[in-house]
Amino acid sequence: ASILVLHGPNLNLLGTREPAVYGHATLADIDAALQTTAQAAGHTLESLQSNAEHVLVDRVQAARSDGTALILLNPAAFTHTSVALRDALAAIDLPFYEIHLSNPHRREPFRHTSYFSDLAVGVVCGFGADSYRYALDAAIARLRAG
Ligand code: DQA
Repeated sequence: ASILVLHGPNLNLLGTREPAVYGHATLADIDAALQTTAQAAGHTLESLQSNAEHVLVDRVQAARSDGTALILLNPAAFTHTSVALRDALAAIDLPFYEIHLSNPHRREPFRHTSYFSDLAVGVVCGFGADSYRYALDAAIARLRAG
C-alpha cells in the first residue's frame, strides 16, 4: 500500500533545531529510516515537508484520489493553529496517525490543544525520532489487518 508522510513547518531544521527538545536526527535521517521499514514490509512511502499551510492542504486533498492508503502526520506548529489542515483531513476520510517528537502535553499550555487528535487513529508523542518509527509500526499492523 501507499503511505504518505507529512511534516509541518520548521521540521526541515531537525538536527539543529532545539536539539534538547527535538533530538539530533535530521529529517533526512527520519525519512530514510521510514522508507527502509516501509519497503521491507512491502509498502511504498512518500515524504513531504512544507513550511506552507496550503502546500500541506493541497497534498492532503490530492491523497483522496492518488491511491494513498494512510497518512503519518506531524503537523508541527499547525497542530495548534490549523483548522484548514484539519478540515482537509476530515474531507478525505483516510486514516492518519498524529506524530510529535516532543510531548506537547508537558510543554507550554498553547501546545496542549491539537486540531487533529480527535480525528486521528492514534497519536504518538514524546519519543523523539522514534515517535515516527512507532507510528509506522502501528500503521503497518493496521494495513496488514486490512
Ligand atoms: C512538534 C510539537 C509542536 O508543538 C511544535 O510546534 C513543533 C514540533 C513535535 O514534533 O514535537 O514544531 O510537532
